[in-house]
Amino acid sequence: RRVLSVASECAPLIKTGGLADVVGALPGALEPCGWESRVLLPAYPQVLDQLDGSRRVWAEDDLFGGPACVRSGTVDGLPMLMLDAPHLFQRPGGPYADGQQDHPDNHVRFAALSWAAAQIAQDGVDDGAGEPWRPDLVHAHDWQAGLAPSYLKYAGASVPTVMTIHNIAFQGIFGEDQLDRLRLPRWDFHPEGIEYHGAVSSLKAGMMHASRVTTVSRTYAEELTTPAFGFGLEGVVAMRRRRGEMHGIVNGIDTTVWDPAQDPHIRPYSAEAPASKAANRAALLQEFGLAEPTGPLAVVVTRLTHQKGVDLLLETLPGFVEAGGAVAVLGSGDPAYEQGLRELAARRPDAVGVRLGYDEPLSHRMYAGGDLVLVPSRFEPCGLTQLYGLRYGALPLVASTGGLRDTVVDATVENLAAGTATGFLVTELSAAGLADALGRALRLHQDQRAWGAVRQTAMTSPVDWSSSAQQYAALFTELVR
Ligand code: ADP
Ligand code: GLC
Repeated sequence: RRVLSVASECAPLIKTGGLADVVGALPGALEPCGWESRVLLPAYPQVLDQLDGSRRVWAEDDLFGGPACVRSGTVDGLPMLMLDAPHLFQRPGGPYADGQQDHPDNHVRFAALSWAAAQIAQDGVDDGAGEPWRPDLVHAHDWQAGLAPSYLKYAGASVPTVMTIHNIAFQGIFGEDQLDRLRLPRWDFHPEGIEYHGAVSSLKAGMMHASRVTTVSRTYAEELTTPAFGFGLEGVVAMRRRRGEMHGIVNGIDTTVWDPAQDPHIRPYSAEAPASKAANRAALLQEFGLAEPTGPLAVVVTRLTHQKGVDLLLETLPGFVEAGGAVAVLGSGDPAYEQGLRELAARRPDAVGVRLGYDEPLSHRMYAGGDLVLVPSRFEPCGLTQLYGLRYGALPLVASTGGLRDTVVDATVENLAAGTATGFLVTELSAAGLADALGRALRLHQDQRAWGAVRQTAMTSPVDWSSSAQQYAALFTELVR
């Protein structure tokens, strides 16, 4: 069976967050379940450079304002499809922006990606290996691929589609005046179609037209039915849940890339032989110019946004550091948060270290060196940094929401006694609630034996893709039958 996976990011080629990790890891995880994947990505300059054996498999003279073609080839031996449309993707910077401002035509850029996906799904691609490669199913990720199920539906195509919501806060909203330009029919512009508060929502379109909708944890699937989390789409979510067409499948991590015993960026260690974790910790303290703390070394690796609760960290970290903790932060985003973090570090350079920017190798060193990884998110569809923390023995201290709640077992008295605890849940997300959980972590850390036992449980708790890949495969198989 064959699945076409459509997304705006794919690790290690192009990444701004967890979406890339998931899109990059799923093909390898689905293969043993009998599903062969091709990922369709935009041909950003930095990804097109890496495509070997490029071959044009589909073309159009004028796709929303310029010529476009899909190229088939391989990257590191893995087959890939890339939408090469220079007027849309031949730009410097990241996938969505050059600098701080998003490109004003992002809705056009990703409508083009979705259009190409729909054409490939209907016609297949002849990549020179005999008969054409034709997908049995299209897997659309987030709003950037949200129009693919709609284009297929409008064309009357029978190929089933799955729409996965990684983050409902981003929807790809654009004006009604764009309908004709993007080849979207006016008859579907109404609340039971693709209309959203007088405009078009690319994500809503996918959620209305896909055969099934999934999101990346069970708890987030429930939360999405409420106004507090649904960003105006809670009604659509509830409707699809009622029909049994909405599923929460928790993310895994790629345990070949994220394996402390094999990671080339660190001094190797494992749950069975954790001794070198201390060397990684010492190296991290040194790299950030921090003094040896009496308490735990916490790490934060994140986009610096409201979603991630960075303001709560700014409020609580001074107290944590006062009580003997140390913290190393890697992130980029909102300039106000960047400034706040810089000031914290300037006040306590011995205990707070900050790196502003994006640095993949450093992120590995941080999970390896950290005792704790802090994730006080206001909402978190799944979250991957807590999973890397578990794997690397940096105990996750997380908000009790979404995938965070589904993947971390709180170090309560009962769970500690039962040997099931893997981290700390912040029950009431507020500065006080976060400070309380940090206090619990500081206290547990004083008992190094108890801490070591929790770390052992964390490092061996299942975070790989096997079970979730089986759930995707079962869903896919049900749809193609
Ligand atoms: P989200 O996708 O909402 O940002 P996730 O926890 O799912 O949150 O995924 C974040 C991913 O991005 C992780 O792989 C994390 O290590 C990585 N990451 C976030 N910020 C940085 C950064 N500044 N440098 C390196 N990696 C980062
Ligand atoms: C989104 C979410 C994050 C999730 C990731 C991958 O970026 O914010 O929680 O882990 O997608 O699914």
